[in-house]
Amino acid sequence: MTFAAVIFDLDGVITDTAHLHFQAWQATAAGIGIAIDAAFNAQLKGISRMDSLERILQHGGKAAYYDAAARARLAAEKNARYVELLAGLDRRAILPGISELLEALAQRGIAIGLASVSLNAPAILAALGLTSRFNYCVDASRLRRTKPDPEIFLTACAGLQVAPAQAIGIEDAQAGIDAINASGMCSVGIGSGLQGAGLVLDSTAELNVPLLQAFWSTQPRAIAQVN
Ligand code: BG6
Ligand code: MG
Repeated sequence: MTFAAVIFDLDGVITDTAHLHFQAWQATAAGIGIAIDAAFNAQLKGISRMDSLERILQHGGKAAYYDAAARARLAAEKNARYVELLAGLDRRAILPGISELLEALAQRGIAIGLASVSLNAPAILAALGLTSRFNYCVDASRLRRTKPDPEIFLTACAGLQVAPAQAIGIEDAQAGIDAINASGMCSVGIGSGLQGAGLVLDSTAELNVPLLQAFWSTQPRAIAQVN
C-alpha cells in the first residue's frame, strides 16, 4: 500500500518568496523605526502575517504601542508591498523538481493538496500556472489556528478525503514540520536545521515519486497498514 496524498507547503517548497516577504517587512518595519535582518527574517518562515508582525514589534520593543487597528494598517501596508513584488512571478519561479513531481503524482492518481498559511496562495499558484494541478487548497482565511497547530494539514486531508495516516506533507519551516507531525501525517523537510522530519532533503530537486515511495515504506504507520 502506498500513500494516497501529498500535501505541499507553498513558500519554500513550490516557489521561494521568502526574500520578497523580507523586502516588504523590512521596508514596513523601517517605517516604524525597527531594523530587521536576514537572520531575523528566517524566523518568520511559515509564520502567518499577523504573527510575523507581532514578532517584529516584539523584536523592536514596540508591541505595546500598536493596537489591533494600527497592526491591521501595518499588515496591509506590508502586504501591498509584497503583492507589488509578486508581480514578476511566473512559471520560472517554480522550484526545481516540483513540476515533474506534480505531474508524476497526478499520473498515479495520488491526490495533491496545498497547505499554505499565505492569504496570497491562490494568486501565487495562478501566477505559477499551477492552480489546476491541486485537487484541494486550504483557505487560510478560514483557519482558527496557524502552524505549528495541525489544523491546516487536517483540513487539507479532509478536503482531499484521505486519512492523515495515508498522507505525506512537505515543508521547509520548523512550524510546518511540527504541524505535519502533529496531524499524524508523514513529514518531509526541505532545507537544513529542521528537527523531527521523517525525511530531510537539501533541495526540492531531490523530490520524486520513487524516493517518496521508498521513504513511505520505512514508516511504521505504512508497515502497520500493510499488515
Ligand atoms: C508563509 C510564509 O508561506 O506565508 C510566511 O512562509 C508568511 O513568511 C505567510 O508570513 C503569510 O503570507 P501572506 O501572503 O498571507 O502574508
Ligand atoms: Mg514554507
